[in-house]
Amino acid sequence: MQALIAPSILAADFGQLNRDVELINQSAADWFHIDIMDGVFVPNLSFGFPVLEAIRQKAQKPLDVHLMIVQPERYISRFADAGAAVLTVHLEASTHLHRSLQEIKLAGMQAGVAVNPHTPVKSLFDIVHDTDLVCIMSVNPGFGGQKFIEHTYRKVARLAEFREREGLHFKIEIDGGVNQENAAKLVAVGADVLVAGNFVFNSPDPIATVERLKTVAVRDTVNG
Ligand code: DX5
Ligand code: ZN
Repeated sequence: MQALIAPSILAADFGQLNRDVELINQSAADWFHIDIMDGVFVPNLSFGFPVLEAIRQKAQKPLDVHLMIVQPERYISRFADAGAAVLTVHLEASTHLHRSLQEIKLAGMQAGVAVNPHTPVKSLFDIVHDTDLVCIMSVNPGFGGQKFIEHTYRKVARLAEFREREGLHFKIEIDGGVNQENAAKLVAVGADVLVAGNFVFNSPDPIATVERLKTVAVRDTVNG
């Protein structure tokens, strides 16, 4: 099984957005990861619909949209209209998470749940049956370029074990501080999607960097 690579546009050069989107189009990357921040759920602002629309005009791969906003349910249909293929909301920001996931799916998108580093994976055990993707944050959300939190491996392994035991098929995505050193181990313990921002865009050759990540992000399993 080869993991999907989702470069995070947050680390792109916004003055040359078209060029950087085209770079990802040309690369072996599978998805565009798009971080939406509201300055309330996380202590930072990123960008909103106009920028997302601009990305969508050029992007030739699915848009994986990560909402770091409070009350994400207020914007589900707007993100569907804006072309999101995967829409991920934070467990910590959702009072009625199950309802939000249903609405995301009804709007024609894959439904994801993200959890902060301090949130135990067992908090997900009663919701993963209704989830297409779980995003395990491996940094505190809000900023790119942070150091990977090592405890993430244990969380991924625990969640992958639960997935196997329950016969479920949701994807496990890792977001934050992913690089050439941790990618292989993350995939080995159960990750299926690796988000990488600074490691890709701040490298001398982003296309080659995606290719290298793709090459190490492989898991040997019977059932994938
Ligand atoms: C963090 C964002 C991440 C970030 C990843 O809040 O959710 O997607 O862009 O960037 P790197 O790979 O630089 O940690
Ligand atoms: Zn993200």
